[in-house]
Amino acid sequence: MELGAALTHARLDTMQVLDVGGRYALRLARTYDPGVDWSRFNHDFDSDSLRCDDPAILGDEDSRALLKRLGAYACFEVLQDLLREGRHQLFTLRVEPQLGMRLGLFIHSSTMGRANGMHALRAGGLRLHAPNTPELEVIADGCNLSRAMSYKNAAADLPMGGCKLTLQADPLRTDDLPRLGFLAYCIESARILTGPDMGFRPEHVDALREHFTRHCTGGHLGPLGPTGVPTAFGVFLAIREAARHAFGSPDLNGRTVAVQGLGFVGRPLAEHLVTAGAKLIVADTDATAVARLHQLLGPVQVVDPEQIITVPCDILAPCARGGVLDEASIDALKCKVVFGAANNPLKAFTKEAEIRLARRMASRGVLFQIDWLHNTAGVMSGFEEYLRGPEATQEHLRPRLERVCKDGTAEVLSTAAARGITPTEYAYEKIETRLFPQDLN
Ligand code: NAI
Ligand code: PHE
Repeated sequence: MELGAALTHARLDTMQVLDVGGRYALRLARTYDPGVDWSRFNHDFDSDSLRCDDPAILGDEDSRALLKRLGAYACFEVLQDLLREGRHQLFTLRVEPQLGMRLGLFIHSSTMGRANGMHALRAGGLRLHAPNTPELEVIADGCNLSRAMSYKNAAADLPMGGCKLTLQADPLRTDDLPRLGFLAYCIESARILTGPDMGFRPEHVDALREHFTRHCTGGHLGPLGPTGVPTAFGVFLAIREAARHAFGSPDLNGRTVAVQGLGFVGRPLAEHLVTAGAKLIVADTDATAVARLHQLLGPVQVVDPEQIITVPCDILAPCARGGVLDEASIDALKCKVVFGAANNPLKAFTKEAEIRLARRMASRGVLFQIDWLHNTAGVMSGFEEYLRGPEATQEHLRPRLERVCKDGTAEVLSTAAARGITPTEYAYEKIETRLFPQDLN
């Protein structure tokens, strides 16, 4: 049985798995009454005044025994291994069966956000998964995405730890106040700042902000707009630095660039590339995304989604789901540079496994650096809105974005080359001690 189903079966709503100095403590609980009207969140009640007439909380031993009895312990063990391998601080699963929602909150590290003086101590986007996606697939995705957020926020010098939310549910409607209210409750009680990721769109952010919570940024109505736009610009700047390193010039005029995924990031990235004179090859599983690009840019070469990773080109920019680069696809690459926006493009769940794949790319003469060094501008933009509210401006964001995505990439590529290691290894070395200062002792 899956963990969400086990909670529901036992009339519980919350599971927490918390790192307590080298081992994980499990706690299962019932924290709210069935039939809560979540559309009244932050109107009639808030995250500390949720009504529960029949509360329950089970300690570590009782929680494990219950999961064993329900046949969900094998799932829990996989989860625990993933958390251990990724060095995660806390995982929370909340289920709301009346709304068909299962929400995973992955807090990787809070170190950089402690004492930042804000409600949110960590930042990371929200990703939607279809309700029938296998739960462990969603959990693995959340673990990986939240781990990357800790490094990304530190690389961008944000006073925020790293986290991610996953939501298993049908697509969200912006007028579905009960579901949005439940989401807002999960966000506020977790002390996080969240924003758009795949399936959770800027219009959802606008609706959440209008009705429920300010701990969510990157909507159409925010002062800086959807985060895909700055993300694309930051990735474009990094691609120019990669071209400088690989081809001796940042000029993309005449270079062939393959873009996988034409969504909130891929589309504006394609625009920058065309403006810079690059020749585009694109693919998207959604025909309307391709049609929209044609409308915007005129005819560009389109290939099947299965072909885009291995299409002959100078630069490959993965801008869709993660996990597209494994041993087999790396060996089949026909490009010189892989630099994109996608989170976790490597099919790996630990730093060590990522480094193995990064080395494999280097041994094939492909320039690659870990994504969280240069797909940072979305969270930087979201944080800027969080910090300054309506006063947030592009003028303030832009120089910081250039420093992180352009200068940061140039420094990592040149230092790694001088030291004869992959940019990914150097990036980890540079950031890790800030996240895990205890490793220095
Ligand atoms: P999106 O959902 O707007 O766009 C993704 C696009 O990829 C969609 O058009 C989808 O149809 C397409 N797609 C899915 N599977 C595909 C496949 N196998 N082949 C080709 N196309 C495929 O998502 P968004 O916001 O553009 O994000 C793209 C990537 O960038 C994700 O990995 C996301 O986590 C990452 N990212 C997004 C940021 C943001 O601010 N939106 C910030 C940093 C990273
Ligand atoms: N989804 C963004 C990323 O993957 C993070 C983000 C967090 C954006 C908070 C806006 C607000 O980097």
